Amino acid sequence: MTQYIGILTSGGDSPGLNAAIRGVGKAALNHFGMQIIGFRDGFRGLMENRSMPLDGNALSDILTRGGTILGTSRDKPHRMPVGGKLLDMTDVIVGNYQDNHLDCLVCLGGGGTQKNALRLKEKGLNIITLPKTIDNDVAGTDATFGFDTALSIATDAIDRLHSTAHSHHRIIVVEIMGHRAGWLALGAGIAGGADAILIPEIPYDVECVAEAIRERSRRGKSFSIVAVAEGAVSQTEHAARALAEQAVKADVAKAKGGKKAKVAPSTETQYADHTIKLAHRLEQLTGLESRVTILGHLQRGGIPTAADRLLATRLGTAAAELISQQHYGVMVAAKGEKTRPVKLEEVAGKVKVVPPDHPWILSARRVGTCMGDPGQ
Ligand code: F6P
Repeated sequence: MTQYIGILTSGGDSPGLNAAIRGVGKAALNHFGMQIIGFRDGFRGLMENRSMPLDGNALSDILTRGGTILGTSRDKPHRMPVGGKLLDMTDVIVGNYQDNHLDCLVCLGGGGTQKNALRLKEKGLNIITLPKTIDNDVAGTDATFGFDTALSIATDAIDRLHSTAHSHHRIIVVEIMGHRAGWLALGAGIAGGADAILIPEIPYDVECVAEAIRERSRRGKSFSIVAVAEGAVSQTEHAARALAEQAVKADVAKAKGGKKAKVAPSTETQYADHTIKLAHRLEQLTGLESRVTILGHLQRGGIPTAADRLLATRLGTAAAELISQQHYGVMVAAKGEKTRPVKLEEVAGKVKVVPPDHPWILSARRVGTCMGDPGQ
């Protein structure tokens, strides 16, 4: 019996998505004799039943392309903006899955997608996911595709910032993506030789960073590069946020008793201007002129590296094989040279952050990089 597969890409786009679509699609069509359709713009396209056939033609010439040929969105099945309201559209999605006679839905995405996929699995759908994100923070897998490309882009940026920082005797604070996990800032910071690397996992003391820069000046190095993750946080802010979170929790408890709860600030509000303020503070503390470079979405654009194409193809073809075995409800993870299915329950809702004793952190410290704390 021919198996019918749907595929969608959800969350922020990531280099390697098209390589993964091609990997699933070509293996499904040519090796396992399945049929495959793509839904546009993530779960929204499945809800609106907007699809495109993924035949040999559609899958051809996409391996090296950035972005996703399917389009993507951050819409969640259970909280979908419809007519100005957030509605639970899960039942519509389940209906469209059935109307399209799908045997399996393949969802390519990061942490949020894994959670949404699990919800659909719990509604009885056959689901397989692949881990993609430039943040590399999906639990249960050695790596996510997109990370290697973003790592190269951010490293190249740090390389370029070196010569201008050096010429002007400036501090350049370069902001690198990653709200919850610092893999990208850490990896690019090490590879690019940043003098300080600040990541969400290690709340920093700005005085410590300033002292590292002053120490460089004393050694005749009149410039410094500070690689800072979007979600990096000072020790003071970290303590203040912990208090605010406690207050919100207490308020929620009260609200259960009838009173209105406060709303925790959104991620955007929490992190807005952080890097700019940090650069100003470092300028004040060191007397060196400072500049900020926010790499932003440059890190997600353009052609995927060979390593990302390879990883995406390995995971995609492994997904097609699992579907042929009717092995559903799993994320296809990278494990060393192999791939392995990990139950969605073991992945959803978890974030793979950088452990404080991770070898990358130890290496950074050993080459004299300031991690924003006194620990060496
Ligand atoms: O997809 C992950 C990511 O690139 C994060 O690193 C970043 O914080 C976020 O997405 C940005 O999201 P958006 O593209 O929706 O602004």
